[in-house]
Amino acid sequence: MVPAGAHGKPPVVRLPCACVTDRTPEERREELVRLYHEVGDCRRCPLGATRTKAVFGMGNADADLMFVGEAPGAEEDRQGKPFVGRAGKLLDQLLGEIGMDRMRDAFIANVLKSRPPGNRDPQPEEIDACRPYLETQIGLIEPLVIATLGNFATKLLTGSQVGITRQRGRPQERELGGRPVVLYPLFHPAAALRTPKVLEQLREDFATIPALLARERERARPSALAVVAAGPDPAAEPDQLELLG
Ligand code: URA
Repeated sequence: MVPAGAHGKPPVVRLPCACVTDRTPEERREELVRLYHEVGDCRRCPLGATRTKAVFGMGNADADLMFVGEAPGAEEDRQGKPFVGRAGKLLDQLLGEIGMDRMRDAFIANVLKSRPPGNRDPQPEEIDACRPYLETQIGLIEPLVIATLGNFATKLLTGSQVGITRQRGRPQERELGGRPVVLYPLFHPAAALRTPKVLEQLREDFATIPALLARERERARPSALAVVAAGPDPAAEPDQLELLG
C-alpha cells in the first residue's frame, strides 16, 4: 500500500533546534515512497522468501499519530495492508469511538514488515533486520505520538523489557528517528478480542489519545519568540511571517 498523500501540517518553521527537519512534507513523502519500494524487495531475513506481500504500512504520511503493531497476519500478508483482519476492525472501531479515522488521522505500521509463518512470534534477528525500516518511517512521518500495540512494539520502542500490562496507558517521552516523541503503550487489539477486561482497558486508554495529541500539538507549536530568535526564513510562506506580528 503506497502511503496516502501528505497534507494538513503547516510548513516547517525554522527554529534554533536540531529537532525540526528542513524537509518539506513532499520531500518526506517521496522518501517514504522510495522506502516502500525498498521494503517490497527486501530479503534481509528469511521471511522475505515466505511472505506473499510485504506490509509497509498505510495511512496519512503526515499524521501526528502513529500506531505500531507486531507483524502482519494471514489477511495482511494476502492484501499487503496492515490490520485488515479482526484485530484491524477493532482498531478501526476504537478509533471511530474517539472521532478518528485510520487513513485521515494516523499512520499504521508494524515491527515486522513480513508475516512470520503460522503467526509465530517475531524472532530477535527478524526484529533487528526490520528495525531500520520502522525507524526510518518514524523519522519521515514525524509523529508526535506513537501508540505501540502489544509487547513486541512496546519493548522495541521503549527499549525496556517491562511488559505491556505494566506499561499500558502510561505515556513516555523518547527520542526516535532523531526527534522527540511520546510513546503510548497499549494492549494489542488481538488480545482485546480474546479477553473482555483487556478490551475495557484498551478502550479506556484510547479515550486518552485525543487529549494526549492536543497536548503534544500545543508543545510542538513554535512560539513567536522562537521564530524571532531564528530570524526570517527565506523560504517561509507569507502566512508564517504573520507570526512575527
Ligand atoms: N497484528 C499486527 O500486529 N499487525 C497487523 O498488521 C495485523 C495484526
